[in-house]
Amino acid sequence: MRPSSLSWAAASTLVALAAAPAFAQQQPQPNPCFRWSGQMAIANKAGASTNGTSTASTLWYQGGQAKLSSDQDSNWWTNALVSLPLDESWQTGTPPLTLVEPDSGDPISPPAVSLGAMWASADGNSLYQWGGQWSDNPDVPPPAARTWRYDIQAGEWEVVQTQGDEVGNVAEGQPAIVPGQGTDGDNVAYYSHGHQDDHTTEGWSNQIARIYLNSMIQFDLGSRTMRNITSYSSNAQTSNSSTPQTNPLSRADGSLTYVPNLGTDNKGVLVSIGGATQTQYVEDGSVLDVYDIGAAGWTRQSTLGARVGSRINHCAVRGSAKVHGQQVHHIIVYGGQRINQTDRDSDLYILTIQDNTYTWTDVGTLPGAPTGRAGHQCALSGNQLVVVGGLTRDDVLCEQPGIFVLNTSSFEWQSEYRPNSVFSTPALVANLTGGIGTGFSTSGAGSATGGDGTNDPDTSGATDGSSSGPEGDVSGGTRSDGSGGDGTNAGAIAGGVVGGIVGLALLALLAFLLMRRRRRQREAEDSEKRALAGAAVAGRSNSGSSSSGRGRFVHEKGFARESFSSGAFPPYGWDRRGSGSVQHVGPASDDVEQETAGMETFISTGLAPKRELRVVNADN
Ligand SMILES: *[C@@H]1O[C@H](CO)[C@@H](O)[C@H](O)[C@H]1NC(C)=O
Ligand SMILES: *[C@@H]1O[C@H](CO)[C@@H](O)[C@H](O)[C@H]1NC(C)=O
Ligand SMILES: *[C@@H]1O[C@H](CO)[C@@H](O)[C@H](O)[C@H]1NC(C)=O
Ligand SMILES: *[C@@H]1O[C@H](CO)[C@@H](O)[C@H](O)[C@H]1NC(C)=O
Ligand SMILES: *[C@@H]1O[C@H](CO)[C@@H](O)[C@H](O)[C@H]1NC(C)=O
Ligand SMILES: *[C@@H]1O[C@H](CO)[C@@H](O)[C@H](O)[C@H]1NC(C)=O
Repeated sequence: MRPSSLSWAAASTLVALAAAPAFAQQQPQPNPCFRWSGQMAIANKAGASTNGTSTASTLWYQGGQAKLSSDQDSNWWTNALVSLPLDESWQTGTPPLTLVEPDSGDPISPPAVSLGAMWASADGNSLYQWGGQWSDNPDVPPPAARTWRYDIQAGEWEVVQTQGDEVGNVAEGQPAIVPGQGTDGDNVAYYSHGHQDDHTTEGWSNQIARIYLNSMIQFDLGSRTMRNITSYSSNAQTSNSSTPQTNPLSRADGSLTYVPNLGTDNKGVLVSIGGATQTQYVEDGSVLDVYDIGAAGWTRQSTLGARVGSRINHCAVRGSAKVHGQQVHHIIVYGGQRINQTDRDSDLYILTIQDNTYTWTDVGTLPGAPTGRAGHQCALSGNQLVVVGGLTRDDVLCEQPGIFVLNTSSFEWQSEYRPNSVFSTPALVANLTGGIGTGFSTSGAGSATGGDGTNDPDTSGATDGSSSGPEGDVSGGTRSDGSGGDGTNAGAIAGGVVGGIVGLALLALLAFLLMRRRRRQREAEDSEKRALAGAAVAGRSNSGSSSSGRGRFVHEKGFARESFSSGAFPPYGWDRRGSGSVQHVGPASDDVEQETAGMETFISTGLAPKRELRVVNADN
């Protein structure tokens, strides 16, 4: 951790000494009890430089917050950098996490922030850090906005000079990355929406109300050029069922996911899901906000199928595969919080994007799912969704190591991560796509691997799509030869024979999903009513003071929800209730299995939405 600029380091040290109490509490990195709201990307491992393309061999997790124990109520923010290999097998109970850069003890350098962005360069050797929220307990006054770069091979952080627009700092926005469209074939990063307040922006007092944005930062990693996009084209088109929108809703805490080969000039689209302002959740009913990269504008895109409703601090990843010659994309949404912290769930949704149709499937909570959570980070490696951290719904006492793996082919939670898998159409939606294909192009917040998938083979086999139902060609899943990314195996993978056991399992799953769907529909109706009512509620002035919402996400909606029916917000002070006290209550009456068997569950008022997805101070 040697900042490139000595004077900057000196200045920031002075700031830290003058304004911020020492970060006394050490976190047992890389294995704290909880970690949440950090920044994550997929890149190379140290000592394995490549000549151009990322090997996607390592998951990198920077910053965010962590706790030693569930009742630790300060010093959550950290600037530690942790890695997890993706090119070897491991058990989810004992993931080989490495503390690559211990917490520096100086929250300014490198930044100890939450819910900013970390983006990997196309060659996989650089991690760019931008944006994020600074600690509120202890209070760390935000420094001037900077863009940081971690050189994986040199093991060094530096502040980088950027060109283009002078931009400030934003937190709790929506990061995404688009492969190959930047200068010299590097990646182009995006960070849409988010908010600014006294914990993001240098010199703001807590008397300035938080601002929610609908602007978008675009960062060309190749030329290091920043753009602040504040007005949007009215020519955007993301399918034949979209309408342009030039003034999208401001929000924070949603997700943004790159999907290749759609939109104007087939440059791809960025799909925005969920999010909220201080007073209102975005209701993703049958419409999503989608950004058309080629036209530089947003649309309102109609969706079919299930309704996701309101959701914040979930995670979303995308995998694509060709089925009968056509590229079909799947955005997988996991977890998040619907209304308040007791509403954190472990639900899964799939958004299947096929040419002109965007169709949601509500998968619900699968058997063996982790405890409901929000503020976790996700990455897709082949057909494995790797979940890191999060704040749990029932505030488990300790969740070490807090790493989970979902097989996105079979939609089963696994206790093992296996390298060299390949994305394949989730069997659950094979009836939508007409078959199962495999592909190498995947993306998540800070990661995009396998390019845009244009040259992926079509492995969907000879089925003609007339075979409805998941029985079609379910066995197609993962290639077992482990050859990743070279696109040479065009051999048919789909088999087509489904054993009786698999059939029975699918039937059971179907029954489960139907029950789940019925419940969701009722809830969707309820939440639509709430949203309508909420639109009439005047915005709450938010002081943004450090105590407001400490230990919670910014959008603690418990009170907002009540206000939706009463028509008035509770007094501001409600927000400050008992930041140190912990109530013991029974387990929530939901069907989520408590994965953390034997751990006492309770609801801590210190855990809520995004604010709490703040920082932790890590260890050395
Ligand atoms: C460069 O990368 C290609 C594949 O991406 C590989 O075949 C080749 O051996 C590499 N060359 C060097 C010098 O590492
Ligand atoms: C982008 O521009 C908008 C509108 O002027 C401004 O509110 C916002 O702070 C800017 N974003 C950044 C990151 O500077
Ligand atoms: C949109 O495209 C689909 C095919 O992808 C077609 O079936 C449908 O009729 C089109 N709708 C409109 C309004 O053009
Ligand atoms: C994921 O599930 C598929 C289908 O059941 C299976 O073939 C594959 O081996 C699983 N992948 C891993 C990495 O376990
Ligand atoms: C596809 O199958 C899933 C369950 O496997 C079901 O929930 C969904 O409704 C089906 N979709 C269609 C379009 O038939
Ligand atoms: C949170 O939401 C749940 C239902 O979604 C509700 O039962 C509970 O009372 C809410 N909690 C608070 C603190 O508002």
